[in-house]
Amino acid sequence: MNRAIVDGVHWVGFVDWNIRDFHGYVTERGSSYNAYLVLDREPALVDTVKAPYAADLLRNVSELVKPADIRWVVCNHAEPDHSGALPAVMAACPNATLVCDQKCKDVLAIYYDVSAWKFRIVKTGDSLSLGRRTLEFIETPMTHWPESMATWIPQDRLLFSMDAFGQHYATSGRFDDEVPDSVLYFEAKTYVANILMLYTMPVAKAVAAVRKLDPAIICPSHGVVWRSQVKRMLDLYDQWDVCKPVRKVVVMYDTMWKSTEAMAEAVLQGAIAEGGPALDAKLFHVRATTGTRLATEMLDVAAFAAGSPTLNGTLMPAMADALTYLKGLRPANKAGFAFGSFGWGRGGPEEVEHYLQTMKVELLRPVLKLPYKPSPAGLDECREAGRLLARHALKVCPV
Ligand code: FEO
Repeated sequence: MNRAIVDGVHWVGFVDWNIRDFHGYVTERGSSYNAYLVLDREPALVDTVKAPYAADLLRNVSELVKPADIRWVVCNHAEPDHSGALPAVMAACPNATLVCDQKCKDVLAIYYDVSAWKFRIVKTGDSLSLGRRTLEFIETPMTHWPESMATWIPQDRLLFSMDAFGQHYATSGRFDDEVPDSVLYFEAKTYVANILMLYTMPVAKAVAAVRKLDPAIICPSHGVVWRSQVKRMLDLYDQWDVCKPVRKVVVMYDTMWKSTEAMAEAVLQGAIAEGGPALDAKLFHVRATTGTRLATEMLDVAAFAAGSPTLNGTLMPAMADALTYLKGLRPANKAGFAFGSFGWGRGGPEEVEHYLQTMKVELLRPVLKLPYKPSPAGLDECREAGRLLARHALKVCPV
């Protein structure tokens, strides 16, 4: 099934309704691998799909043009969710030349046998006339991988943006105005948090370049096409790119005999008491919450507390897992503290604090540790610590 984006430009990708794990990213709403066909005197296919869905892509293409008539295949990104079908596509399109930047060619040559493929290597500023339309190329390194590129059609003010502006969202709607806003923006934010959060500067640079183009339509490699809310999406990216904090605090914890849980609840109570209705305060048990969701919450949190009891002289494994994932995503502009209980051994809360230090979190207080079962005075100390989170959130995001 194909779908027209504008007259002569068609979506020919694959909707992956059932994927739930995208290299560790929990994709509760599935995903799509978007490929686009530009019909012109010299037809061009922009990006492909995951390898198992090559036949679906070629069937969609064949509804519109004979694969042998395709003149150009553009590869904006070498990651296998978009390049996996290239071997099948290049075999089915013997008259096509693959268009990509040099870094992309280098990676493709590692993944696939490219010895029979014809290449056109492009860089920023290069263009390719298809007939009525032109493809212009813009290198956007680290808007997921170093070889990432975007492709622009000036005649339609249409941008094939690759991973940027995508969402892992399987839907029968193809456009931003065909799906519920609440779901769309949740998935767009989740995508930024889990895929792009650590590439703050390159993404910000790419967004600035996209603004200059003033696109009417943005066609990402995953999820729906932006045509009605392009400006709103760009504005949100400006906030998300820098992890701009909102008036929100998060308390995340693991627990063994409910002591650290009691501490977490007291921290939350303190934050709510201090912040009142102006503050969004949330509590997450890390064994009941995916890392994907925690990362999304961390994208715009102002302050957070992370707690673990001591198990075998260190932190609980699920908290280590969550913090390892978050550390890799490098959330910026965050403040917080570590907490947790201990018995005869030490190490859990201290190890959590060590993670926070390596994440360059501004520590609002020293690690908060309580022995065995929290006393009423200990819980009061937790509430006071929760107030610190709220005060920081309100300070950096004044009402
Ligand atoms: Fe959707 Fe970076 O691949």
